Amino acid sequence: MICIGIESTAHTFGVGIVDNSGKILANEKSVFTTENAGIHPRKAAEHHKLIYDKIIEKAMKSAKIEFKDIDLVAFSQGPGLGACLRIGANAARSLSIFLKKPLIGVNHCIAHIEIGKLYSGFKDPITLYVSGANTQILALASGKYRVFGETLDIGVGNFLDSFGRTLGIGFPAGPEIEKLAKKGKNYIKLPYTIKGMDFAFSGLQTKLNNISKKHSKQNLCYSAQETAFSELVEATERAISHIGKKEVLLTGGVAANSRLKEMMEIMCRKRNIKFSAVPPSLAGDNGTMIAWQGILEHKAGKKTRLIKSGIKQHWRIDEVNVVW
Ligand code: ATP
Ligand code: FE2
Repeated sequence: MICIGIESTAHTFGVGIVDNSGKILANEKSVFTTENAGIHPRKAAEHHKLIYDKIIEKAMKSAKIEFKDIDLVAFSQGPGLGACLRIGANAARSLSIFLKKPLIGVNHCIAHIEIGKLYSGFKDPITLYVSGANTQILALASGKYRVFGETLDIGVGNFLDSFGRTLGIGFPAGPEIEKLAKKGKNYIKLPYTIKGMDFAFSGLQTKLNNISKKHSKQNLCYSAQETAFSELVEATERAISHIGKKEVLLTGGVAANSRLKEMMEIMCRKRNIKFSAVPPSLAGDNGTMIAWQGILEHKAGKKTRLIKSGIKQHWRIDEVNVVW
């Protein structure tokens, strides 16, 4: 069985093609970026509208398959930006009708976890899901992915992106901040907010904005990363001792960051816990994770009728029954 997966929750229009053994046949994407501003939903949606057919074609070419070989069409049904989600949903509906193959709308956040489980072979991890909009500590309990800890204000990726704007870096700022941070040497003391297994970044953001002219970009980025990532590692460590699972998975766009991976790895090693981070090509938004999630749900007998295929902008991860 071959599934084509379409991702368009925010900045990325992605198309992945996966078979039912988990073999990735294609993982193509186009990311809406800016030189020195944030992401505007309408502009990102316009980007998707212009390139969606080309990315589908590109994925078909990389997979070396024809449309008749596709058995299932999966798409990101939510959560995300309405204008962006609609482009992917429309493309998926058209493909499903044209190919006369079942349609399956999946939860984007769950797809970030399941692609990590496929990659790592982990069966029941505690997941630290770090992306632009979302930052959560998740684990499976009583048939759902439950949120054990989460950001009380903004996602860690959004924090990095908005701090990047202060420094004149465009979207996405995470990769550039990582580069600058590697050259930083002096730690600047910054607000550190953690409450039980929850954490927050807006105090950190305000402080950084206020002192941005007083220090080098390198030291600011270094200190920002060390502080924000320490919060994440501390909360995950608390979750480990609380929930008592034996594996930790790092997923989402910010999981591409090598310093965050290093810090998590050190903590897990000390606690004798297995650790895995999703590789950069599958960490940020991508169609492959959507295709794989489609396969998992299809195997479990799920499908999305056309009439139920409307987008769900605020679809929380703990609303979904994990039946696969
Ligand atoms: P979600 O809907 O899951 O919240 P998202 O739309 O934020 O997803 P992702 O691609 O999962 O999209 O994550 C994007 C975020 O990852 C951006 O905030 C970006 O700055 C950040 N990011 C990407 N690479 C790095 C990196 N190397 N270091 C830190 N952050 C990074
Ligand atoms: Fe994402």
